[in-house]
Amino acid sequence: MRSGDLYSFLLLLSLTLYSVHLYQVQSLRLSSFPAEPFSPFSIALKTLQSDINYTFENVQLLGRAMTHASYSEENNRALSILGSGVIESSMVLQLVDKNLDISGKDLNHRISEFSKEASCAADGMRLRLEKVIRVSSKTNSSAPGVVCGAYRAFFGAVTLDSESLDTAGGVFLGIWEDRVGKAMAM
Ligand SMILES: *[C@@H]1O[C@H](CO)[C@@H](O)[C@H](O)[C@H]1NC(C)=O
Ligand SMILES: *[C@@H]1O[C@H](CO)[C@@H](O)[C@H](O)[C@H]1NC(C)=O
Repeated sequence: MRSGDLYSFLLLLSLTLYSVHLYQVQSLRLSSFPAEPFSPFSIALKTLQSDINYTFENVQLLGRAMTHASYSEENNRALSILGSGVIESSMVLQLVDKNLDISGKDLNHRISEFSKEASCAADGMRLRLEKVIRVSSKTNSSAPGVVCGAYRAFFGAVTLDSESLDTAGGVFLGIWEDRVGKAMAM
């Protein structure tokens, strides 16, 4: 890895950790989530948790992750940025752990493949996030940017909920074991 790449990775990691901290401070101040256990949204959140084998301590975080900016000011933007950092860090960690001599070019290539909006939206569709995410009536919940944002925010939410980058990385790898496994075998 070129030292520039290592530097960007470390910068990304510290930014991620810093955002976790900032967000935790912020999230203490927000808790205006409606407690309606039988609303379609709550039911969808329950189903999603069982699909991915992770139960949220604070399900409001998952609700936030599944709320698009068009729907509410209390939306998933910050979680999405956090999640994107978590996904990238856990991928880099796995790849470098497996092969310390992997070239920076190769590493960057794999990351950019995984981070493309189309690929990220396809991952989100597999979890049927377009059926869960709340958007305004004028917004198409299947638009790639919307689904991708929700997918990334989902991992941001797991990170905050578990207070652990490892747990979020583990959930990420658990969901896409096949895909990641194949990519790493190449
Ligand atoms: C919503 O977006 C999806 C994906 O881009 C597209 O296939 C679909 O036609 C759009 N629906 C509407 C009503 O625009
Ligand atoms: C969730 O757990 C079930 C049963 O242990 C397993 O079959 C399934 O593959 C797991 N799903 C994920 C996404 O980890």
